[in-house]
Amino acid sequence: MGLEQIYDREAAHRPIGVFDSGVGGLTVFREIMRQMPGERIVYFGDTARVPYGSKSRDTILRFSRQIVRFLLGQGVKAIVVACNTASANALPVLEEECPVPIIGVIVPGAKTAAEVSRNGRIGVIGTTATITSGVYSEVIRQLRPDAQVLGRACPLFCPLVEEGLWEDPVTDEIARRYISELTGRGIDTLILGCTHYPLISKAIGRIAGEGVTLVNPAYETARELHILLREKKLENPDIPVLGSTEERYSFYVSDMADKFRGFANSIIPYGVLSAKAVTLEDQ
Ligand code: DGL
Repeated sequence: MGLEQIYDREAAHRPIGVFDSGVGGLTVFREIMRQMPGERIVYFGDTARVPYGSKSRDTILRFSRQIVRFLLGQGVKAIVVACNTASANALPVLEEECPVPIIGVIVPGAKTAAEVSRNGRIGVIGTTATITSGVYSEVIRQLRPDAQVLGRACPLFCPLVEEGLWEDPVTDEIARRYISELTGRGIDTLILGCTHYPLISKAIGRIAGEGVTLVNPAYETARELHILLREKKLENPDIPVLGSTEERYSFYVSDMADKFRGFANSIIPYGVLSAKAVTLEDQ
């Protein structure tokens, strides 16, 4: 079945779809909730297959397509790829195929960094697949040709976050190894180029030091989504009929629903009562 056939009408009342390989995208979900309290959101975390960052482009694209199909099946009116790895490796293809507006997290984060950096030396930390794609550096250099973009893959961060070691000496030690390499080269701005990283931003900030501005693309992504919904006349006009948080927000994962729910409760500022496990199939 083609993607167009899954999509339906009555768009403005429909939810926004948000996805990530795991819990990291909840940092974007939280920001969308905060900036657009009148919207319903369906979140999907691919907890059975996290991490994406060590996988090939083809695999990341295949997983992302399956999730987009699932979200379209939930009747979403727009999709946020709340995963840098999927944004870097799959977004251009998804944009062509997807019948609803779809945005990623890279352009919003790159724009902010290009604006806030004083000396033009911008560090980017992310998964191996994000850093090797070179997408951040490409987008930043288009916006600010004088910029020097220094990337560093941090493959151990994602498992540390998924294991809940947000405030732990091990995380600080690993952050030191990754980040001192960038601070030693004079960066004044550091993009948290993986949606998992805002959850360990305290450790990252401690190591990067006060002179380095951390950029969390979640804020700008939610802002761009808001502008896009307004432009496409897709903002929900019926805020008062939205109902309880349980009715507004739903969470799906591909495995370990209870563990995910526990995480969601430490990230989302209301009690998340349920997360459903579903199986995604190739179609
Ligand atoms: N949270 C994801 C990102 O923004 C991916 C982490 C992973 O699955 O490796 O890149």
